[in-house]
Amino acid sequence: MRPPLLEARDLTLRFGGLVALDGVDLTLGHSEILCIIGPNGAGKSTLFNLISGIYRPQRGSVRLEGQDITWLPAHRIAAAGVVRTFQTSRLFNDLTLVDNVVIGMHSRTRTGVLTALLQPRAARRELNTAARRAGELIRSLSEDLYERRNTLAGALPQADRRRLEIARALASDPKMVMLDEPSSGMDDRDTDRLIADIRRIMAQRPGLSFVIIEHDMRLVGAIPERVMVLDYGRKIAEGCYADIRVMPRVQEAYLGQKAAHA
Ligand SMILES: Nc1ncnc2c1ncn2[C@@H]1O[C@H](COP(=O)(O)OP(=O)(O)OP(=O)(O)O)[C@@H](O)[C@H]1O
Ligand SMILES: [Mg+2]
Repeated sequence: MRPPLLEARDLTLRFGGLVALDGVDLTLGHSEILCIIGPNGAGKSTLFNLISGIYRPQRGSVRLEGQDITWLPAHRIAAAGVVRTFQTSRLFNDLTLVDNVVIGMHSRTRTGVLTALLQPRAARRELNTAARRAGELIRSLSEDLYERRNTLAGALPQADRRRLEIARALASDPKMVMLDEPSSGMDDRDTDRLIADIRRIMAQRPGLSFVIIEHDMRLVGAIPERVMVLDYGRKIAEGCYADIRVMPRVQEAYLGQKAAHA
């Protein structure tokens, strides 16, 4: 039987006396979308940091298509097809949109420093090809971003920064993309555009899977097939959105209200 795309088991991490993540399991299939919700400090970003190799678990394991990736360095995990965006924007403000996306391709471009020095023409050719591919990728996401592809990323409004970060994450042709609160800093109109973007990406790339940390319940209700709820580092519920949203424990934990359903 084909193993799931990603299988995390019993992930546990403490910071001093604080248990940021406590025995969390996560399974993600091919072409699947999973949303993670939960209050501030629930351990959502910590889960991404463990899967992407930025933090190391004190217990537990992560497998990608059956291969143990728990202890691989972060760049090898990214090269294996597991990419992510960060909760706070991490674009290079002094680079153009295209160059920001080219940086996302680096695990797939072959030219090293030595080649660049010894064969500058070959290096330039490869860079030109990368820039063209980056432009096409931006265009597939958004015509209006494409028109601004040679302007500096620092001049982009917040919503477009988040969209460009998604383009950069896609640049290495990953197997799965983890988005950490992609709608943060967006108004309702921008969030609707984000939902449309994600749907378009899914249609363009069948087989690609997503894990999305999200607090905007419109996005949670509109996109994923499955929702996982974290609270105080523990998984307290998992299932389809319709079932999750009415669970008293979820309403208590997520909406911060006691018996909000009453
Ligand atoms: N590097 C760190 N050092 C110490 N404590 C940390 C570190 N990273 C996270 N924590 C703590 O671990 C807990 C979980 O943090 P995490 O960032 O995963 O929460 P989150 O669910 O992403 O919250 P938010 O919705 O605010 O982004 C929090 O109490 C946080 O303060
Ligand atoms: Mg977070």
